[in-house]
Amino acid sequence: MSNRAVIEAISADEILDSRGNPTVEVTVTLSSGVTASAAVPSGASTGEFEAVELRDRDPGRYGGKGVLSAVKHVNEQIAWALTGTPADDQRLVDEKLIAADGSESKHVLGANAILGASLACARAGAVESGLPLFRYLGGASAHVLPVPMFNVLNGGKHGHQGPDVQEFKLVPLGAPTFREALRYGAETYHALGAVLADAGASTNVGDEGGYVPQLPSNAVAVELILRAIERAGYRPGEDIAIGIDPAASSFYENGHYHLTRDNQVLSSEEMIAYWADWVSRYPLVSLEDPLADNDWKGFAALTRELGDKVQIVGDDLFVTNRKFLQRGIDEHCCNSILIKLNQIGTVTETLDTAELAFSAGYTCLVSHRSGETEDTSIADLAVALGCGQIKSGAPARGERVAKYNRLLAIERMLGKDARFAGREAFHQLQRR
Ligand code: PGA
Ligand code: ZN
Repeated sequence: MSNRAVIEAISADEILDSRGNPTVEVTVTLSSGVTASAAVPSGASTGEFEAVELRDRDPGRYGGKGVLSAVKHVNEQIAWALTGTPADDQRLVDEKLIAADGSESKHVLGANAILGASLACARAGAVESGLPLFRYLGGASAHVLPVPMFNVLNGGKHGHQGPDVQEFKLVPLGAPTFREALRYGAETYHALGAVLADAGASTNVGDEGGYVPQLPSNAVAVELILRAIERAGYRPGEDIAIGIDPAASSFYENGHYHLTRDNQVLSSEEMIAYWADWVSRYPLVSLEDPLADNDWKGFAALTRELGDKVQIVGDDLFVTNRKFLQRGIDEHCCNSILIKLNQIGTVTETLDTAELAFSAGYTCLVSHRSGETEDTSIADLAVALGCGQIKSGAPARGERVAKYNRLLAIERMLGKDARFAGREAFHQLQRR
């Protein structure tokens, strides 16, 4: 007990994310001399009830997006609160962070300040214990490599000329290993580039590295991706399935869904019928935020209709928050939850939300944000949870592949003990 390492110093810096916007990086130093850092990501299509990311709103710096106030909160209030705390007691660290902020939404110190500190402490605790982060968070049995979902075609708020649907993802669930899944994804990504070029469409990329073509409809994006899967030599649905994230709140206005690319304005019932049609026509295995984040009734109806054929993921709906997830469980909305650390703001609360999801039979999909850094913690988190699924954008661009490359390293580290989640990650696909 006497030589248990405690937090000796904690400090922050303002760095840039992948969109060129400021974000928070936190460094923790322990009494043992161990140091570790973590950087915080940032969303664009954020859920209404996410923990609050503190921005300076000083128009003279970074268009108001500076994070110097969050940095100051780490250097002062958070440092005062955490100094002397055992580094390996993550729950205590996070309780202290929550108490120091004192608000439900973490707007006082800022979720960016709080998550940076929480994650940096977890990293320091792992180093101190001599364990890789996935083992430190997930225990001795963590050995499942997630199916990577590659967002190869971007639209919505991540690609403004693109489809209304924000994300079209390759899901290589038929691959034998993570390494092979990565190859399936990269080859198909390049095949899609060729398919788009042949069709005279743009191969410029969006925030998450996927192409942003101007297409005549949302469905055409799926058709082109299916063509790319075949062109790369894979079988759609068998080797590589498809996942989508319409991020439907971003085109929901006055009670209706406005699909600009399709020239359609749909009611909730019509939107559900639209997705049911896609599920019947395409090898879709994952459908995230198919409705707006206040359309709980719609979510219950959609889950009733499609919940045994496809994974229905709540992202903006649940914002990685136990409270909203519990409501979803009670009202039978979705059968899966997206897990984003910065939506809730601490490592412990994230793990607790995942635990609740598993206990209710929901799957978990660990996720990056559209604004990312080279921090790879989510790769370790996915293996720690053993949830079998991760999305980190296209298999291109440094901040996206950093996570996939970390998973390659974890797979290598695990050697013969590594197991690729594959199709088993999606228990909802019984009737397909
Ligand atoms: P965001 O998008 O990071 O911009 O919120 C990701 C998502 O909607 O899943
Ligand atoms: Zn989403």
